[in-house]
Amino acid sequence: MLQDELKNLLTHTIAKLADMTDEATVRRYEFDILGRKGSFTLLSKRIGSIPAQDRRLVGQLVNSTKQELEKAFRSARHLLEAGSKAPYKQSLDVTLPGIRAAQGHLHLVTQAIHEIEKIFTPLGFSRMSYPELEWDHYAFESLNMPKDHPARDEWETFFISEKESGTYGRVVLTPHTSSGQVREMEKRAKRGQGVRMINIAKCYRRQIDISHLPMFHQFEGLAVDRIVTMRQLIGTIQHFVTHFFGKGRKARLRPYHFRFTEPSFEIDVTCGLCLGRSCAYCKDGWSEIGGAGMVHPHVLTAGGYDPDVFTGFAFGFGVERSYLMKNNVNIGDLRLLYANDIRFLEQF
Ligand code: DAH
Repeated sequence: MLQDELKNLLTHTIAKLADMTDEATVRRYEFDILGRKGSFTLLSKRIGSIPAQDRRLVGQLVNSTKQELEKAFRSARHLLEAGSKAPYKQSLDVTLPGIRAAQGHLHLVTQAIHEIEKIFTPLGFSRMSYPELEWDHYAFESLNMPKDHPARDEWETFFISEKESGTYGRVVLTPHTSSGQVREMEKRAKRGQGVRMINIAKCYRRQIDISHLPMFHQFEGLAVDRIVTMRQLIGTIQHFVTHFFGKGRKARLRPYHFRFTEPSFEIDVTCGLCLGRSCAYCKDGWSEIGGAGMVHPHVLTAGGYDPDVFTGFAFGFGVERSYLMKNNVNIGDLRLLYANDIRFLEQF
């Protein structure tokens, strides 16, 4: 059958090519196979005698066999030109070391999340997770931000449901990791325990430009106990700053206002380029990483704690922002982080 003959010719030719060690022989052989009177050319002419209904399939086989043969001759010639002795034998040298498969690595934000978690674990902060779709109650109301309070405007929220649902309000995409605070307190207060949690999660806000993303990450620390002091808050923040950014970097607290902490601060870290001396990049020597403060008594009450007995501190920082400040990478457009361009991601 023509089909079998074509297949045999291909196998036979490739096997014979493997033993050829000079270019002239290969060229002669090519002529014998593919030349005007070559074995392949003669075989292909028999297509005319194939019954009409099979002709299309056999025709395809003729074409693909021709392509395979041409490819085999081409690479045999190239290998011999490049100085290789027996082309096909060499390419099958099983003693050569294998070709390593390309290996990826974790996304830079995932790397940062793992590192942050590791820094807080020795201080007793357990990593917890809370819903990504959250009730208004946990995202705002229980954090001392009553309905229609103008402070809510800062969190440009995505609303998922139009309707209120009883006491918990509408459903939102968590606009900050602070939404986990009261959820955790409710669990622990019932058992008479304190809290020491770290929540590293996605946050969503209706904002997108070179320095804002609709989806980004924050990490939130919360400690509640019978005696929790501001010294502990400062110590915890400095521990993070030293371990994440390096020994020479310092943190400072700048008075600010948040509804869920009192007193409240914004936290700045000395710039990694000038170490606080001020440069063109940071202007005044400091860059902001997030907010912090002592948990507001209303929030403790919402979580089930008696604010006369329990105190707490909390902080919430941006993961992407911290990562960029750590490595002094001035990425002109934050959206690159999630554009999935491998040429960008491979650099981290
Ligand atoms: N949730 C705040 C934000 O997204 C950050 C923050 C400020 C968290 C003060 C806190 C805090 O825990 O105490 O801007």
